[in-house]
Amino acid sequence: MTFRAPAPPRADRIRAIAAAHAAERGPLLVILHAVQAEFGFLDPDVIPVLADELNLSVAEVHGVVSFYRDFRTTPPGRSTLRICRAEACQAVGADALVEHAKQRLGVGFGETTADGAVTLDEVFCLGNCALGPSIQVDGKLQGRVSPDRLDALLGDLR
Ligand code: FES
Repeated sequence: MTFRAPAPPRADRIRAIAAAHAAERGPLLVILHAVQAEFGFLDPDVIPVLADELNLSVAEVHGVVSFYRDFRTTPPGRSTLRICRAEACQAVGADALVEHAKQRLGVGFGETTADGAVTLDEVFCLGNCALGPSIQVDGKLQGRVSPDRLDALLGDLR
């Protein structure tokens, strides 16, 4: 993977975020989450900036980014659909809902529809286990989601 330097104002902002969290324990994860929260994803170009700020190698930072599912290295869609795949939701039909969503959207987990409307992600427990299958649409929790209900929600997003 090739990294190029981000434009100066963005690099400055990334350095400021890193500086704000540098004293925390295990700061890399915290900083990566903060950068992603601000920019929506982790452009690969932030990696050398963070490596420099934290005195780590580019390979170390890249390894962490690529290891954790929570980190996105491409821009997300305008909306994000997260489907719970943990045990309680699986027991009440989450797998079928996942297959339905993938077919309906034409994408897999971590991918965005061609029109840029929806990014599909998986999550492992949303704390709504008694009301599964559970999903999150743009951060809003929905329970007892059937394929028909999912279609209705997706219709609102596109
Ligand atoms: S298992 Fe799905 S919300 Fe907890």
